[in-house]
Amino acid sequence: MKILPFERWISALVRPLETLNLIRISRQTVLSNYDFFQNLHPSSFLFPVVKSNAYGHGLPQMVDILRHRSFPYYVADSYWEALKIWQLHRHPVLLIGPIHPQNYRHMDFNRLAFAVSDCQSLEAIGQTGRRVNVHLKVNTGLNRQGIDPQAIPVAIDILKKYPQIHLEGVMSHLADADNPVSTHTARQQLLFRRVCRDIQRRGLNPRYLHLSATYGTNKPPASEFNTIRLGIGLYGYGPFNGLHPALSLLSTLTKIAPIKKGDCVGYGCTYTALRPSNIGVIPLGYFEGLDRRLSNLGHVRYQNHFLPIIGRISMNLTVVDLGKLTPKLFDQVEVYGPDSSASNSISKAAEICQTIPYDLLVHLNESIRRVVVN
Ligand SMILES: Cc1ncc(COP(=O)(O)O)c(C=O)c1O
Repeated sequence: MKILPFERWISALVRPLETLNLIRISRQTVLSNYDFFQNLHPSSFLFPVVKSNAYGHGLPQMVDILRHRSFPYYVADSYWEALKIWQLHRHPVLLIGPIHPQNYRHMDFNRLAFAVSDCQSLEAIGQTGRRVNVHLKVNTGLNRQGIDPQAIPVAIDILKKYPQIHLEGVMSHLADADNPVSTHTARQQLLFRRVCRDIQRRGLNPRYLHLSATYGTNKPPASEFNTIRLGIGLYGYGPFNGLHPALSLLSTLTKIAPIKKGDCVGYGCTYTALRPSNIGVIPLGYFEGLDRRLSNLGHVRYQNHFLPIIGRISMNLTVVDLGKLTPKLFDQVEVYGPDSSASNSISKAAEICQTIPYDLLVHLNESIRRVVVN
């Protein structure tokens, strides 16, 4: 008997069961977002970023979609994510998260490249004695990861000591790219350009030079540095009108009941009905990833109506005000929809929560079933 990996086994087991919560990912939308950036920078390499469960969209689902495009690397955070990608697509992965130096010797270096941010890690990679691609990460002003420019000569000495390490890329990351009037971005670009030239002068010729993620792509040198790590833009959020969110989160009305004027709803009695109404209960709460800050503020859509979330969102349940509507029990509602201007969009919800779409997306619980449509 063939042994299935655990996740495939579970998914085979539950497939006949209906689900009350569902995440739908539009294949066409993801691919058209991808193509949008490729058309914007036709000579650049795009590295799709699929870390954090592909920004909540589902790693297997996104890998399945992205197989339809050709690019040098997926970008993931951890080796564990790379292993998951390879279950579906034996394709190169660039790891950008920190790695314990002791772990390199246990890793499969085939189809893997490392973003390396410090000389100790470079030494540890060298000591494995194995051939490997690295992308040197330089700190140009985010001050989070990366080798400081003045330490680059030390890193190059290590690279020369271990000729089996191939310097395939040089990269950095912008701190203020979503600020259209930032002067910091231009400073980082300048510094990155200098570092790349310095490395080239020292006889190394890395193929991929990458500074920009999504928000860097509307700043001219994105093409000059020939690679873009494309994260949030791929999923449909970012600085351009041509992008469309690929994700919808659907749920189900599992209870419909009248409430009287003066009745309160939910923990802490933060909502009191001003008039008789009907409430609907959906089986989705902050565990599933519906941010608790949407309590009494967010909306879900039922047909063409936007229903206010009333009372506090609980761990696994949320109550909405149906007003005079008369849906049927087990009718579907759209918790997050793909129309960015609608009051149940991720962008709108992020505004309400005073956060960013990334935050809401990555917190969509992995246990919610994801399906790819069209
Ligand atoms: C190093 C690095 N590159 C690229 C990205 C992708 O950024 P974005 O989603 O803004 O495109 C991230 C996101 O966290 C990152 O940390």
